[in-house]
Amino acid sequence: EKGGFRSFMDKEIHDQPHAVADTLLGRTDTAGHLVLDEIRVDEAVLRRVDKIIVVACGTAAYAGQVAKYAIEHWCRIPVEVELAHEFRYRDPVVDARTLVVAVSQSGETMDTLMAVRHAREQGATVLAIVNTHGSTIPRESDAVLYTHAGPEVAVASTKAFLAQITAAYLLGLYLAQLRGTKYPDEIAEILDDLREIPDKIQAVLDAAGAIREVAVAMKDVPSVLFLGRHVGYPVAMEGALKLKEIAYIHAEGFAAGELKHGPIALIETDQPVFIIVPSPRGRDSLHAKVVSNIQEIRARGARTLVVAEEGDEDVLPFADQVFFVPRTASLLAPLLAVVPLQIFACELASAKGLDVDQPRNLAKSVTVE
Ligand code: BG6
Repeated sequence: EKGGFRSFMDKEIHDQPHAVADTLLGRTDTAGHLVLDEIRVDEAVLRRVDKIIVVACGTAAYAGQVAKYAIEHWCRIPVEVELAHEFRYRDPVVDARTLVVAVSQSGETMDTLMAVRHAREQGATVLAIVNTHGSTIPRESDAVLYTHAGPEVAVASTKAFLAQITAAYLLGLYLAQLRGTKYPDEIAEILDDLREIPDKIQAVLDAAGAIREVAVAMKDVPSVLFLGRHVGYPVAMEGALKLKEIAYIHAEGFAAGELKHGPIALIETDQPVFIIVPSPRGRDSLHAKVVSNIQEIRARGARTLVVAEEGDEDVLPFADQVFFVPRTASLLAPLLAVVPLQIFACELASAKGLDVDQPRNLAKSVTVE
């Protein structure tokens, strides 16, 4: 049932083009408009929403962090992302104009379920982005947008993560369509970019040999750092989480801009650091800033492992290794940039002889608070 792969995780990483394609499938009409009929929430309620709070745990919370950048940009609605187990204990400001989006692969995570219950008690509308049909969180929510990743067996989430991000983008575009914050042709263009993502993920998978080699050679490193900025920041966090979960290596993700405020003190000779580089075509000179971060840590002896957009030659002088991913719109880049990090963790854990599908101390779904 692993379809010739060594582990479910390896198989699920390779299923990702389908997970994204299937999550996009059937959600537009012939004119190219988004039709999310399954969201049975009064459109008037969605037009009135003045705040979105994403609640989730683990990988699903990083999907929420990616969604925040896109939804704020497309819809001009403030978006907060909160770990579900923190949410209800801080007396959050939630009312009838709040849309709470609960993201969960299993639909059974108790922390997330309790956050859903709390939000509804406060009068919020709750929309679930969930992978498992008939699970508890969608049953207790006002609406559900299913991810179509198929069953995910490995404890460490991969294809569900990409499907969650995809579904959250669809939600953002749907709200933008409904509220008129994006023109129809702009929405159509983003949807076209999204439809190209599965083939681009496949291209990353086809080029995985280089990552595999690096991962095997690094199997005994004690610590790996991950830096990212803008949407690359949650990607860095997710890359670090994957490595902790299945390879038991100390790993930390940082916002690249935070480097000089602390983490740069950790850099010593041969410290491996992954850097997720934003597109050189993006706004606000973020690309140049992250490239100079690479230069700074390399000058202090770090081993720099760079994930960059194809054709980005600016990174070459400062990178010990570069993993190129195909070009896409800046906001969609996490769907590609995270893939080399997933492969890295999976290959490194396998090289250590660990059970990548059933890591110690972890469960696929945590049904206690
Ligand atoms: C953790 C799993 O316990 O729960 C993670 O090990 C997962 O992989 C997290 O991201 C959240 O789970 P779910 O099912 O709510 O997405």
